[in-house]
Amino acid sequence: MSNYNIKHFEEYFQIYRKSVRDPELFWEEIAEEHFVWRKRWDKVLSWDFSKPEVKWFEGAKLNITENCIDRHLRTKGDKTAILFEPNDPNSPAEHITYKKLHERVCKMSNVLRDQGVQKGDRVCIYLPMIPELAIATLACARIGAIHSVVFAGFSSTALATRINDSDCKIVITSDGSYRGNKTIDLKGIVDEALEQCNGVETTLVVNRIGSDIAMKDGRDKWLQPLLDQAIPHFEPEIMDAEDPLFILYTSGSTGKPKGMVHSTAGYMVYAAYTFKNIFNYKEQDVYWCTADIGWITGHSYIVYGPLANGATTVMFEGVPSYPDFGRFWEIVEKHKVTQLYTAPTAIRALAKENIEFVENHDLSSLRVLGTVGEPINEEAWHWYNDNVGKKKSPIVDTWWQTETGGIMISPIPFCTPTKPTYATLPFPGIQPALMDENGEEIKGNQVDGRLCIKFPWPSIARTIWGDHQRYKDTYFSAFKDMYFTGDGALRDEVGYYRITGRVDDVIIVSGHNLGTAPIEDAINEHQAVAESAIVGFPHDIKGNALYGYVILKETGESRDQDNLRKEINQIITEHIGPIAKLDKIQFVSGLPKTRSGKIMRRILRKIAGKDTDNLGDTSTLLNPEVVQEIMDNVL
Ligand code: WTA
Repeated sequence: MSNYNIKHFEEYFQIYRKSVRDPELFWEEIAEEHFVWRKRWDKVLSWDFSKPEVKWFEGAKLNITENCIDRHLRTKGDKTAILFEPNDPNSPAEHITYKKLHERVCKMSNVLRDQGVQKGDRVCIYLPMIPELAIATLACARIGAIHSVVFAGFSSTALATRINDSDCKIVITSDGSYRGNKTIDLKGIVDEALEQCNGVETTLVVNRIGSDIAMKDGRDKWLQPLLDQAIPHFEPEIMDAEDPLFILYTSGSTGKPKGMVHSTAGYMVYAAYTFKNIFNYKEQDVYWCTADIGWITGHSYIVYGPLANGATTVMFEGVPSYPDFGRFWEIVEKHKVTQLYTAPTAIRALAKENIEFVENHDLSSLRVLGTVGEPINEEAWHWYNDNVGKKKSPIVDTWWQTETGGIMISPIPFCTPTKPTYATLPFPGIQPALMDENGEEIKGNQVDGRLCIKFPWPSIARTIWGDHQRYKDTYFSAFKDMYFTGDGALRDEVGYYRITGRVDDVIIVSGHNLGTAPIEDAINEHQAVAESAIVGFPHDIKGNALYGYVILKETGESRDQDNLRKEINQIITEHIGPIAKLDKIQFVSGLPKTRSGKIMRRILRKIAGKDTDNLGDTSTLLNPEVVQEIMDNVL
């Protein structure tokens, strides 16, 4: 029995049990058989969740790009590694073979080295979904620099915060980006951000849309001429297993984003192993994940996981609605996509459109469907299953997080019987626990609680960049010796898990995690705003939308409320990005607070969701009268 390739349900249980009984042996066998190492590890695992400290494959030496590129050159050099589908459906798709990818990553590595980037330096990548994004990411890994990819939908302020937090000395960006029939001035956003970033010496600019942009002397350089002069060889830097591979920011419950740090060997092993099994990957497949590489899903399941398996991975630059809502299905048909990995919010948006968009295309190539990012509702699950998978492609509902680096709970297709809205069972090596509010583990089935993980897995984030204490406080303090996910979950009668949603101040809107604090901080910058509170409310397509309760400073004066609403959303767009705009803004005279001054978000959530039959206990409030006023004026 090979641990690497799980073929049926019985085998899953055997492998799972082995992974719990002897985790070190289990992971060692996988690491040994399926990857190339420059030096073997001295110790498979050392860990202490109380510090917290986790190390996998200590002493080993490797370069992840050798595993993702070089080792495939001999046997599949001419196979497509990255299949780039541009925004414009009439532009040809680009097939980048493993040979070509090697050449382009090496050239990019040489350019970065020439620009003075050394091992351990941080490189910010702020690019649209074009091949250079994957190539720059891999080039950083090849030279040992730590990449920090920032989703190119974030605003200049959000970008500046991320650049400064990790002291990036170089930014890779493009003149602009395409989004459906619009273009976005990315370089303008970078210029604005860099006014606040003294540490950035160089920006490398990809010419994507051919716009006439300002280039700052001495700082901004067009990338292509540099690539043209670079040689197509670059000896990979030999990295320690625990050297940081990348930083990726995620929202938290305070204003400052958390720079999650992932290290090299464990991340690689886990991303590759989960990819192989959870997508039932086979040699001839054309795998497509619709996420952006600016998010963890793109890191692990567009770039590293697929390439480590020598797969063909599709990168799509555009949006599901351009030129019409048939675009996803057109791409599936055109490239004979075998696995489609997308988000519930996209599924819901597509399900609302005329079914002919789906039916006009031949989707018979599809074998496995995936979903990620938020709980998938039953209706969306069935629509996906019936219309896209034609009831024959298993849906893998994959639960995981930026912090976990790879998929944690998910069916294994053709193994695990699926159940709508259930992520089902833990992947080998993952030991979940449900905890009650007193910190006790809830055993048995048909229970719900807070989802924790008891034992380290190879791709757990190692720290928050520059703030290990915050890492400990956020993830390892709520429950002793456990990693706390921030999610609630239930376990059904057969032990299947269903993730019920966040139990903290993070709201998932269209699959994007948004902390309430950063949005409130942004709103409070408006000179007319005294205080604000953000909650989520159910939304047909986005899953959740944002509802803002805002107290104005000058209550007596009548102001144009619609104008104020626009200004508030404008401030949010500037500070965070358009994804964090509020759907509804209600002006209130006060917010329900406890005697200790904490806003009772539970009540505000119920009011926003029009679920006020049972508001729970309001007697502990400092100002119970405000609740009625808010209810009377709810939007
Ligand atoms: C949520 C995305 C239910 C969850 C990979 C988690 C999910 C957060 C699922 C992490 C799922 C992700 N079912 N909820 N299949 N997948 N989530 O960091 O709340 O962007 O904590 O990572 O998304 O979001 P992140």
